[in-house]
Amino acid sequence: MLIFKMTDRLIKRYTVPDIFLKKNKSKIVSLTCYSAKVAEIIDQYADIILVGDSMGMTLYGHKNTLSVTKQMLIEHGKAVVNHTKRSLIVVDLPFGTYEGSKEKAFEIAAEILSKTGANAVKLEGGVELSETIKFLVNRGIPIMGHIGLMPQRINIKGKFIAQGKSPSDSKKIIKDAKSLSSAGVFSIVVEAVQESLGKLLTKSVKVPTIGIGAGKYCDGQILVTDDMLGLFNTFTPKFVKKYANLYSDIDNAIKNYQKEVLSGKFPSSKNIYK
Ligand code: KIV
Repeated sequence: MLIFKMTDRLIKRYTVPDIFLKKNKSKIVSLTCYSAKVAEIIDQYADIILVGDSMGMTLYGHKNTLSVTKQMLIEHGKAVVNHTKRSLIVVDLPFGTYEGSKEKAFEIAAEILSKTGANAVKLEGGVELSETIKFLVNRGIPIMGHIGLMPQRINIKGKFIAQGKSPSDSKKIIKDAKSLSSAGVFSIVVEAVQESLGKLLTKSVKVPTIGIGAGKYCDGQILVTDDMLGLFNTFTPKFVKKYANLYSDIDNAIKNYQKEVLSGKFPSSKNIYK
């Protein structure tokens, strides 16, 4: 027990500067997570774990991320922080809580950090949020940016589609990335843009870019864990690679359980108190 605790103390959690310094040195491995047991597994392999508002769709079955509340992010954030030792934990800021004013953004970000014990928060937006980002960073809140496809803006775009297709859109995304970088973010998630734009963005900013559907030249990659495990099967974007098929594995397990309960095979002598 004592040995276990001593080893525990030797494990150091990644810090924001550690992640920043990975640019041009080694790729950043990142995944989303919302629950304790999955967090324990991911923690062994990922540099960053994002408690993303994608939980609204994957975990709660909502049609988009807009309904995810501060309370949901705090509860899931606590579960992930308490069951990890190594990865840097980033929690999403909920839609509608940070766009209106920098003071309100500070309040919500500080509350999320203090109640979860997470290391940083993520927000979606470009140039229009750079003043807010400066305000937060200067007051001790590390920020991860998110540009390209911004799921919280679904009602403007109408659907989840790749961004930056026209020259003017790509220019705007590059401007957003530069503005976030100068405002003080420690990394930028770049979602659903052509690989060539992902490459250009990565070269244009001093902070690491973390791609999700932005090609191999980004400084790191992130996927929604439920997608890459094949658990969320309602819609799978092209950029997702499925490393498992949990939906059908779970389906098979439950089907077998039903069969065995109905036939009386379960519980067997191994599963009863004698
Ligand atoms: O909420 C989320 O999971 C995200 C990822 C798509 C990066 O923002």
